[in-house]
Amino acid sequence: MAHDVVLIPGDGIGPEITQAMRRVVAAAGVDIVWHEAQAGAAMIEKCGTPLPDRTLELIRSVGVVIKGPITTPVGHGFRSVNVALRHAFDLYACVRPCRSMPGDGSRYHDVDLVIVRENTEDLYAGIEFSADDAGAAAVRKVAREQLGATVREDAAISIKPISRTASERILTHAFDYARTHGRSKVTAVHKANIMKATDGLYLDVARSVAARYPDIEFEDRIVDAACMGLVMHPEDFDVLVLPNLYGDIVSDLAAGLVGGLGMAPGANIGDGCAIFEATHGSAPDIAGKDIANPTAEILSACMMLEHLGEEDAASAIREAVVAVLEEGSSVTADIKRALTGSTAGAVGTRAFTDAVRDRLTR
Ligand code: NAI
Repeated sequence: MAHDVVLIPGDGIGPEITQAMRRVVAAAGVDIVWHEAQAGAAMIEKCGTPLPDRTLELIRSVGVVIKGPITTPVGHGFRSVNVALRHAFDLYACVRPCRSMPGDGSRYHDVDLVIVRENTEDLYAGIEFSADDAGAAAVRKVAREQLGATVREDAAISIKPISRTASERILTHAFDYARTHGRSKVTAVHKANIMKATDGLYLDVARSVAARYPDIEFEDRIVDAACMGLVMHPEDFDVLVLPNLYGDIVSDLAAGLVGGLGMAPGANIGDGCAIFEATHGSAPDIAGKDIANPTAEILSACMMLEHLGEEDAASAIREAVVAVLEEGSSVTADIKRALTGSTAGAVGTRAFTDAVRDRLTR
């Protein structure tokens, strides 16, 4: 059966790496009807917005999207397309598998963990007051009257909402992910020893959700101890589930364990929509030069194929990518440098993609 997927090529290196991804998926024999849609700065002239209605409608009707990176121009008046998509489709779970790959340039080997980050609330909810704002004065008054706490007059204030609803759905997502992906343990990360109301609620929900999954081991860790544990013994972790702020920071820490963002796939998932994409940006410095490494985008397609129930094709592609990286002769400059210390003998995006395709069709 053919699968419908919306493809947003993006800009910068986006068109090159999404093209590479498409060729690899085709070589794996999966039948996909690609619905191409546009987003980004180039759309402003044509449609007056970086995120045209047609693109939003397509995403709404198809529900599965793979995209290339999109540049966010610096300056006012341009909202990040990625943030807008997250809001429009309530993509509450950011999922980032971090797995060691040959040529990832990391000092660690055999790392294999998954970060599940809540995407919609916490200190990133945007509820902020400058020090001279009436809102800050109101919060200071409530803190004084209800808690006897003194907040300095010159303090700006951010509010951290952690709801039972959002905690319940992200924790359920993490446990479901563990179950469907053959993972054995979920670690809930928090700071409930200090933030008893917000993180305490999160931990409370974590424990009650864990009770519904007796087949999955559960533990909780305080965020600072979790960071030390990840750096000292990453093999102790499997799936980690975190509120938004810790999730943002620990996602990058975990990416660092596997050589940075360069080869890291990702997904933003909601109840009616899932968007898959590499975690790196649009790399304008190397765009259009046939030197970008498409691995992260190809691995994002593997996550998408699993989401579509095409697990065999996803495993075959992953194995082909690992084999080409391990063999080391048909790899892009970033990998060549990580493997040998020099870019001599590197190949381009297309030749790397050909090598992966050859492995798949052998
Ligand atoms: P970047 O990830 O685009 O580039 C950082 C460095 O990594 C550059 O030297 C680049 O050449 C290199 N690089 C990145 N991906 C590569 C690949 N696949 N192969 C080889 N080298 C690669 O980060 P930067 O420069 O901070 O962001 C550029 C633009 O991308 C910004 O406008 C940013 O807002 C946007 N961005 C978009 C994202 C998305 O659409 N999901 C995510 C992150 C950034």
